[in-house]
Amino acid sequence: MRSPKDFFAPLALGAPAPVREIPVTPSRMIHFFDPGNEKMAAKVPDIAKKVDVLLGNLEDAVRADRKEAARAGLVAIAKANDFGKTQLWTRVNSLDSPWVLDDLITLVTEIGDKLDVIMVPKVEGAQDIHYVDRLLAQLEARAGLTKPLLVHAILETASGVANVEEIAGASPRMQGISLGPADLAASRRMKTTRVGGGHPGYLVRTDPAGEDLTEDRTTYQQDLWHYTVARMVDACAMHGILPYYGPFGDIRDVVACEDQFRNAFLLGCVGAWSLHPVQIDIAKKVFSPSPSDVAWARRVIAEMGDGTGAVMIDGKMQDDASVKQCRVVAELADALAA
Ligand code: GLV
Ligand code: MG
Repeated sequence: MRSPKDFFAPLALGAPAPVREIPVTPSRMIHFFDPGNEKMAAKVPDIAKKVDVLLGNLEDAVRADRKEAARAGLVAIAKANDFGKTQLWTRVNSLDSPWVLDDLITLVTEIGDKLDVIMVPKVEGAQDIHYVDRLLAQLEARAGLTKPLLVHAILETASGVANVEEIAGASPRMQGISLGPADLAASRRMKTTRVGGGHPGYLVRTDPAGEDLTEDRTTYQQDLWHYTVARMVDACAMHGILPYYGPFGDIRDVVACEDQFRNAFLLGCVGAWSLHPVQIDIAKKVFSPSPSDVAWARRVIAEMGDGTGAVMIDGKMQDDASVKQCRVVAELADALAA
């Protein structure tokens, strides 16, 4: 297995690119904006102060006749601003679209030194990442860039899910993968028309108390995305890259959004997309471990000493495995505090 540390050298021109590790800088929310929308673009410098990642979106949600304006808007915004620690990402158009080649050529040439990550939608298999990887290497070499751009895939086709392990390991440029529940639902011919989140019809019902099957029985809504998120998390963990929940489209339903983000966090995701400012705070809260969880984790780590053996803390058994879980929480807290 290749590690993200074994970064490809760029094409033969010039010195090899320095090794670049996957940034452990926080990416709890990837905040989407339309760079061609002047009102939205004007708010970007302020929003940048509140988010971990700003993403200029060129793909879906940008009308076909606004693609060029969005691309030009992103170039202008990136050139005019220094976002400091806030990462700047873009989502380019899909690889079967008429716009993606110009997206990549223009963005790498004009603002390749300002961009951190290129999000590639509708990835079907490793071949899509290989194509982007090679093209980026050529464009970086031509532009004289020394910082390789990283790649993030959206998991939003049935074939992408079937190939998720090979996608996660397809290039040392791979930074992470996001669930794309809307396109994925369509690709799989699921029967939900929502953008992420649950569905009231996807439920389990308790058994009847007696023989009467028509009695009122409690129902529990299930998580439509559990299987895919868990599978994506495993693929990402195996290859040392980061998993994300994607969009939650019902902006008004902040309660269900928080639940959906929390399920993803508990399963291993490090962040989600925010489509509206209201979702920024939800993601910040959910994808940061709670102070009580951090305090508990630090206590277990301290009492476990060299990390081997077993101890009882407040009646709960801790051992080599539980201290590893606690380190995950403590390390996340440290990374967020840095
Ligand atoms: C995101 O792109 C989605 O399709 O859900
Ligand atoms: Mg999509």
